[in-house]
Amino acid sequence: MTGFDTTRPNIARVYDYWLGGKDNFAVDRELARTMTEVNAGIPAMARANRDFIAAAVRKVAEAGVEQFLDLGAGLPTSPAVHEAARAVNPDARVVYVDSDPVVVSHASALLATKPASTHSKATSPNRTRFSPTRWCRRRSTGPGQRA
Ligand SMILES: C[S@@+](CC[C@H](N)C(=O)[O-])C[C@H]1O[C@@H](n2cnc3c(N)ncnc32)[C@H](O)[C@@H]1O
Repeated sequence: MTGFDTTRPNIARVYDYWLGGKDNFAVDRELARTMTEVNAGIPAMARANRDFIAAAVRKVAEAGVEQFLDLGAGLPTSPAVHEAARAVNPDARVVYVDSDPVVVSHASALLATKPASTHSKATSPNRTRFSPTRWCRRRSTGPGQRA
């Protein structure tokens, strides 16, 4: 696992800045602003992306999915996947995966008692401790009931 570098921009922290978060540094804000000069719509797109994720998670949770694998999760933001899922099903479980040790460090601290969090690259899922095929089980019974 690499160290924590505040002298180089980090895309998870840049994204956090666009979302109005506090987990970013001057170097991240500088890159975020430079990119926004090129396309002023980026922050709105980031927010729309988060809104879509929350809506999609709610939708599939309502359809009975109770286990979620968030690959490339990014820094914790609200609503996080587990918050959206648990608004529908309080027993929903979420595993967050990210290749960035900064993200994993934050997630481990902020989500310590909630979902699991693991350091892995989506391009090497066989190294992810939780197999997606095992975690994407769909219940055959209705919401609120265990299959
Ligand atoms: C811009 S954030 C997006 C966060 C969230 N998924 C969203 O859409 O709001 C992208 C995250 O993906 C992570 N990431 C990029 N490539 C990855 C890979 N190959 N495996 C796991 N995580 C990856 C980055 O570290 C970063 O935290």
